[in-house]
Amino acid sequence: MSGLIAVVLAAGLGKRMKSPVSKVLHPAAGRPLVHFSMAAAFDAGAERVVVVASPGTREAIEGHARAAFPGRSVTTALQEVPRGTGDAARIGLGSVPHDDDDPVLVLYGDTPLLEVQDLTALLDASTRPGCALALLSCTVDDPRGYGRVLRDEAGTVTGIREDKDLAPGQRASLREVNAGIYAARAGMLEEGLQGLTTSNAQGEYSLTDVVAFAATRATVTAVHGSAAALVGVNDRAQLADAEEALFERIARRHRLAGVTVRHGARIDDAVSIGEDARIESGVHLRGSTAIGAGVVVDVGSVVSDSRVLPRAVVKPYSVITDSTVGERAQIGPFAHLRPGSSIEEDAHVGNFVETKKTRLGKGAKANHLAYLGDGDVGAGANIGAGTIFCNYDGFSKHVTTIGEGAFIGSDSQLVAPVTIGKGAYVATGTTVTRDVPDDALAISRVKQETKPGYASRLKARLSARKK
Ligand code: UD1
Ligand code: CA
Repeated sequence: MSGLIAVVLAAGLGKRMKSPVSKVLHPAAGRPLVHFSMAAAFDAGAERVVVVASPGTREAIEGHARAAFPGRSVTTALQEVPRGTGDAARIGLGSVPHDDDDPVLVLYGDTPLLEVQDLTALLDASTRPGCALALLSCTVDDPRGYGRVLRDEAGTVTGIREDKDLAPGQRASLREVNAGIYAARAGMLEEGLQGLTTSNAQGEYSLTDVVAFAATRATVTAVHGSAAALVGVNDRAQLADAEEALFERIARRHRLAGVTVRHGARIDDAVSIGEDARIESGVHLRGSTAIGAGVVVDVGSVVSDSRVLPRAVVKPYSVITDSTVGERAQIGPFAHLRPGSSIEEDAHVGNFVETKKTRLGKGAKANHLAYLGDGDVGAGANIGAGTIFCNYDGFSKHVTTIGEGAFIGSDSQLVAPVTIGKGAYVATGTTVTRDVPDDALAISRVKQETKPGYASRLKARLSARKK
């Protein structure tokens, strides 16, 4: 006998999603739906996970498995045509070498709230003497759409009947539903799967018919789990509810680990957050974002696939994508760090400043209204309000380089490619088209003319013309 095999069924059409994207690839809290069944299987001790995929999803599932479960044994098996959950389970189990005695867990790819304690209880029950198969069930108020657990007068499980195969009178009265998670020995499952037929309302090979088969061999145990954790996602309304529950669970996990997470913040599953950080309401932390200790991410900010290092402050309504924010740096309010921005320690990026592929060195500041694209800004430099790095000539992007400690006066345009030397000074309103050496002053400005007493005369003339 070897370790636990988990078969995750993820090749269905997911018609009720009404989507060109397969149901199991729809994201929930930043992960494809199928991720959660795979993760729960590993948490429950699975040594090998095989995901049954369709031709359209196999590649995406394999890619996700490599990224999310490195070093773990995940394989895929192809179900070319969705002939039902029984057919999928047979293909999955058939794709991994095993002995009859090996324990197998079968899960569906659409139960993202699954918790490891329910799986552990299921596996325990399945190894008790006389148990042919164990399944998870729960009692729900609205059992529509679920398969129902059938029991005889003595309360012994005799099978599962799908919603569509029930008599009208049974639809509302049978409220113990099949969660779609089963544990049995490989040999027992295989035998049951071989005998399946398509004589049901769906005309499919139904995994649930294996339950009746197992009940003729020995006992089937229905382990009662919590309804909230076992919900299946079939449509987008259920997806939204499940995702909301995931966000609540993730927030709680961070709170208990010493992070202040206000209600209304949404944190994706893969995000990491250091101790004593504060995540305000309306914040979205997405993808593979990593937030350091003591960081504040204030109201309404959206941080995706970025690193924010300890004690940095992201002020309200900032958007940060694929970028790095250094220790104690300050971003926003209303700042936009586009991909490839690297804001180093103690640097400041203020309101209405947009950066893209730009490094802002230690302690550098761009506090107001600027576009800094394709730039390299030295430590301690000061970028005035209204500065634009003119990085694009309509065909190619060019780099602006600013030396340490340089001062760029307000409303300057730096026409890239261009380099401003260390400690150089660009006077307000200058259009820089040629390199400025270290310590030099660059100024390009039309000379001002002032005409005393001219304002009232001009106004009188304009007003007369209007009449
Ligand atoms: C299934 C169960 C039902 C249970 C419910 C729990 C069956 C026949 N019914 O119904 O008893 O109460 O889950 O949520 O099993 N899949 C394949 N290949 C296929 C068909 C489906 O891989 O040919 C996969 C799907 O991608 C999905 C899973 O199997 O992840 C379940 O399929 P779904 O159509 O959602 O089954 P339900 O109708 O929800
Ligand atoms: Ca389902």
